[in-house]
Amino acid sequence: MTDAPATDAPATAGASKESLTVRDNRTGVEYDLKITDNTIRAADLGQIKLGDQPGLATYDPGFVNTASCRSSVTYIDGDKGILEYRGYPIEQLAENSSFLEVAYLLIHGALPTKAEYDAWEHEITYHTFVHENVKSFMEGFRYDAHPMGMLMASVGALSTFYPDARNITDPDNRHIQMVRMIAKMPTLGAWSFRHAQGKPFIYPDNDLSYTANFLSMLFKMSEKKYGADERLVKALDTLFILHADHEQNASTNAVRSVGSTQVDPYSAVAAGVGALYGPLHGGANEAVLRMLRRIGSKQNIPAFIEGVKNGNEKLMGFGHRVYKNYDPRAKIIKKSAEDVFAVTGTNPLLEIALELEKIALEDEYFVKRRLYPNVDFYSGLIYEAFQFPPEMFTVLFAIGRTPGWLAQWLELVQDKDQKIARPKQIYTGERGLDFVPSSERWA
Ligand code: CMC
Repeated sequence: MTDAPATDAPATAGASKESLTVRDNRTGVEYDLKITDNTIRAADLGQIKLGDQPGLATYDPGFVNTASCRSSVTYIDGDKGILEYRGYPIEQLAENSSFLEVAYLLIHGALPTKAEYDAWEHEITYHTFVHENVKSFMEGFRYDAHPMGMLMASVGALSTFYPDARNITDPDNRHIQMVRMIAKMPTLGAWSFRHAQGKPFIYPDNDLSYTANFLSMLFKMSEKKYGADERLVKALDTLFILHADHEQNASTNAVRSVGSTQVDPYSAVAAGVGALYGPLHGGANEAVLRMLRRIGSKQNIPAFIEGVKNGNEKLMGFGHRVYKNYDPRAKIIKKSAEDVFAVTGTNPLLEIALELEKIALEDEYFVKRRLYPNVDFYSGLIYEAFQFPPEMFTVLFAIGRTPGWLAQWLELVQDKDQKIARPKQIYTGERGLDFVPSSERWA
């Protein structure tokens, strides 16, 4: 803290270059705040005080300009449309890697050797089964329960099957819980689907790859072995890769926030599933499909766009908090859509989606606000080609995002800088009212 100079001359002469000098015009006092990694510590603002009032704080609903952690998991440059996991560009991972390898990369921080990969794949494969009681309680959901609600509840319930998971300081214990969660998510997701369809639950098939086994648990009927088309397996595996992490998005923030209480990872991930369920986040792909169905045909698009511009509704699958140029995942998904449609036949809604995109990319409203298709714009069309009902779309997103949530959770629990997440508020309510008992108020 430095006293305010008598003149208007800048008071930064003695300040370090890596600092921010702020002047509190209420008091005339200047403060030097250290800049590290292009940020100032919000807690440093606390020294800026007026009389006996609490120190200065920042007001940032939605965390639009607040870093909550240091992370080495995922890098995004929203202006350039860059997404990297542990330094590897998403385009290269989507083209050349597998979802399980990407999961390993996210959690361990480096690509596996052959021996490491084999051990990882084996571990995941042999943890895909769930306790039989999980099956019983999943059967207890209403016939029309939303699969995301079922997934959220059943992931949270795993904490009761693995009570040792609360021992989050033991690295071996953390490892086995992460393996279990990545392994069991497809089982829980597939069973949510089967329940809604009134079909028997299918047990995992350990001869199949991670993604082929998921398709088997979803679609197998009376055949001895379910053999999904390899092109579809590859496309779904790629979609899982594209969804695997996205730095501090709403659901990851929920996982970190709940995880900061040092609760077990199943409870923290259940919070992430809940956050992902919302239509502004992972629920957007479901909303896109419903929107396309509602538009119904190309000639209804202009009226729909007018409605969006008048603020009546949103063009779902467009816009992103971080990407202001293009979402690199949307580009890869568009290509995957072509691969899938080559097997399944084209989705008739694709025509409407393409036309909508064309118009929106030229329209001043969207151009000015830098609104582009995001990952959810085309993913729903692909999922529908797989014959998933829209309620299942976000479940697929959740399965893909699980390694990312876990990598971020692992980073959190090992980060000495982290504390229990507890934001401040600006209180706007009444103060010091005298309570009048109901016998007097209602008399
Ligand atoms: N359709 C129409 N207008 C939009 C849209 C949209 N999809 N998105 C943003 N806007 C407008 C918004 O009304 C605002 O206009 P104005 O400045 O006139 O008030 C302006 O663009 C800035 O929007 P914002 O709401 O301040 O932006 P945000 O960063 O807070 O929200 C978002 C980002 C993704 C929540 C938002 O773009 C949105 O609601 N999109 C539709 C839902 C969607 O597709 N979500 C999936 C996101 S990607 C995957 C994921 O995260 O799960």
